[in-house]
Amino acid sequence: MLGISPSMALRFEVLARHNRARASRLTLPHYEALTPLFMPVGTQGTIKGLTNDQLEDLDCQIILGNTYHLALRPGADLLDTIGGLHKFMNWPRALLTDSGGFQMVSLLHLADITEEGVTFQSPVDGKPMLLTPEDSIQIQNKIGADIIMALDDVVKTTTTGPRVEEAMYRTLRWIDRCIAAHSRPHEQNLFGIVQGGLDPQLRDICLEGLVARNLPGYAIGGLAGGEGKDAFWRVVAQCTAGLPEDKPRYVMGIGFPLDIVVCTALGADMYDCVYPTRTARFGSALVSEGVLRLTHAAMATDYRPLDSSCTCMVCKRYTRAYLHTLVTKEAMGSQLVSYHNISHMMQLSRNLHSSILEGRFPDIHGGS
Ligand code: GUN
Ligand code: ZN
Repeated sequence: MLGISPSMALRFEVLARHNRARASRLTLPHYEALTPLFMPVGTQGTIKGLTNDQLEDLDCQIILGNTYHLALRPGADLLDTIGGLHKFMNWPRALLTDSGGFQMVSLLHLADITEEGVTFQSPVDGKPMLLTPEDSIQIQNKIGADIIMALDDVVKTTTTGPRVEEAMYRTLRWIDRCIAAHSRPHEQNLFGIVQGGLDPQLRDICLEGLVARNLPGYAIGGLAGGEGKDAFWRVVAQCTAGLPEDKPRYVMGIGFPLDIVVCTALGADMYDCVYPTRTARFGSALVSEGVLRLTHAAMATDYRPLDSSCTCMVCKRYTRAYLHTLVTKEAMGSQLVSYHNISHMMQLSRNLHSSILEGRFPDIHGGS
């Protein structure tokens, strides 16, 4: 057992600070990760287009899975029987699973939230189904990720009025049901998620309630849903200021390089987003200067690498012109651009870490 307390399976050591930014070592049951850290998203037990060997080569430390998708296929009981998702997908490093409610609400039109849980229509047979906080945790215990997320009631940041308050208080009531249902606190870390929309008072109530539960780590949720940048950054600043110094802080659903740099300056440590791999499939490469649209006609005769400052396999071996002919047509196009984009995100994570360690964080060049 790794834990620093009976209810934790992680160790978090801040190695250096620059103002509010931190560089740290996050020791999890399956991996010792360095933060700031971007986590690629593999909804279904695979990062689309990349093999495990490639993910290890790129130095991915933690990858994401999703409770809702994994529960549908291959199913929680099968994963449990086989010894968890690590064994099933043969991924030796750390895993994190999101609780499922957010995906159901964002993917399924018919999802509905009640005090019991999230009700939705089964995509298999259309029957009504219910995911309670207890179900979500029990499934995540079977999947066996190093970090599991509490089931939260998420509303869009553009929602206003009493629904925001209701969702925040429900998230607080559900955290106790999640904690009570969690059967593997020595092997898996349950993170709470701060909700409360753009309302500072609601965010404070949620922060205080979650911090009082002394969880191994905390996430800031309900962001990147169409609010303005300054509103988004203000919430992150408030939450990082209110969260404990000695626990990891994870801003959910964040993947634009600039946002990662700003959130890191505000004291956040972990990020995840489908953006780098999704945008790759649509033919966009993340480069130092911003975003390169490979579908653009000018790329057809551009024989330079995607990014001359990138040392990844794709930039060593292929030209923009070659990738232009493949993207959006050949699977290999998505795979190569995804490889470069994840490489870009990992290089950004490492640059953030080393720039904080070496006292040159403000110089960081994060791309777009
Ligand atoms: N992914 C992005 N934002 C959120 C959130 O607020 N809650 C959960 N559970 N997952 C997310
Ligand atoms: Zn590259």
